[in-house]
Amino acid sequence: MLTAENQKWLDEVWGKIQTKMSAEVDRIGDKIPYIPENGKYVDMSDGRIGWWTNGFWPGMLWQMYHATGDERYKKAAEGVEKKLDEPLNGGNTDHDTGFLWLHSAVADYRLTGNEESKTRGIHAANILAGRYNADGKFIRAWNNWDKENDRTGWIIIDCMMNIPLLYWATDMIGDPRYKQIAMHHADTAMEKIVREDGSCYHIVALNPDTGDVEFYPPCQGYDPNGSWSRGQAWAIYGFALSYKHTGKQEYLDAAKKVAHYFLANVAQTGNVPLVDFRAPAEPVMYDSTAAACAACGMLEIAQHVPEFEKPLYFNGAVNMLKATMEKFCNWDPEADSILGGGTVAYHAKGQIEVPIIYGDYFMIEAVLRLLGKDFLIW
Ligand code: GLY
Repeated sequence: MLTAENQKWLDEVWGKIQTKMSAEVDRIGDKIPYIPENGKYVDMSDGRIGWWTNGFWPGMLWQMYHATGDERYKKAAEGVEKKLDEPLNGGNTDHDTGFLWLHSAVADYRLTGNEESKTRGIHAANILAGRYNADGKFIRAWNNWDKENDRTGWIIIDCMMNIPLLYWATDMIGDPRYKQIAMHHADTAMEKIVREDGSCYHIVALNPDTGDVEFYPPCQGYDPNGSWSRGQAWAIYGFALSYKHTGKQEYLDAAKKVAHYFLANVAQTGNVPLVDFRAPAEPVMYDSTAAACAACGMLEIAQHVPEFEKPLYFNGAVNMLKATMEKFCNWDPEADSILGGGTVAYHAKGQIEVPIIYGDYFMIEAVLRLLGKDFLIW
């Protein structure tokens, strides 16, 4: 379905990714990168080992290992996986166990069959399942890290990307409870987070005893009524994945609805998403990570819709990926990180339009999907 011009672009990009990742794996190895400081990655294992993004580097390494067979990627990914035993066994994780261990232990198990990695993945799934609120039918997002906010009842859209860990656990041990929890959470997210027009809240504070909506806390978008583009991307990909793992049609419909909203918005900004689609016109701020993640989600949707619908999602993904990569990629092998233009949050001063490790992860996954060289980490 790629045009000849886009196929040429894709082949060139894949060559550049291999050159860049080959240099990065030699330089970074099993250190854990996040956002470069003064152009260089700092190692997150030095003091921030439990940070939610620490699985994306091993995720990139396993994707590269799968696509190229180069053992350097495997060795570095195995090193990170062992380091992540500290937060896995440390008892202070939040809902991000999916991001952390799907990309490390579970990816390892899927590609190598390593039983120790499978045990880590099951342990991570148990932690995630333990955050389930049975009356509210949702997975609690964050712990309480300050006195101002009691987050016991908070549900966030990002968690749609963590629950594939639960689908995997049910597949592994044949116990439906993990999948049941994941589906209850997805149902609640669909009802309480996705708006009628296809946009999404980021955070919804629910009453932890009843599950009723209490309020919409300040979030990573412009304001609680905004439309944070990475949150919309989490919804697109997350609901598409829940459909893949369950076959429940409503999930695919939700993914499509948010995708339509996303495509309508990026069409107004040259196929590169703003940080928040509902923010004031100025300042103009982009988030490349939203483009890369949404592209993966749209490519997933394209696999599940009838033939006549495929081009909308497939071409939408390609156009977004290409425009965002042409605007923000740095292919210098000596420079840390590939995709610039990522934004942590609308109000995160100093972390606006910067390279972020998950931008690189989703960009590589999207390119490998287009080449037919990816494997499903989720
Ligand atoms: N999951 C946090 C974020 O997307 O920034």
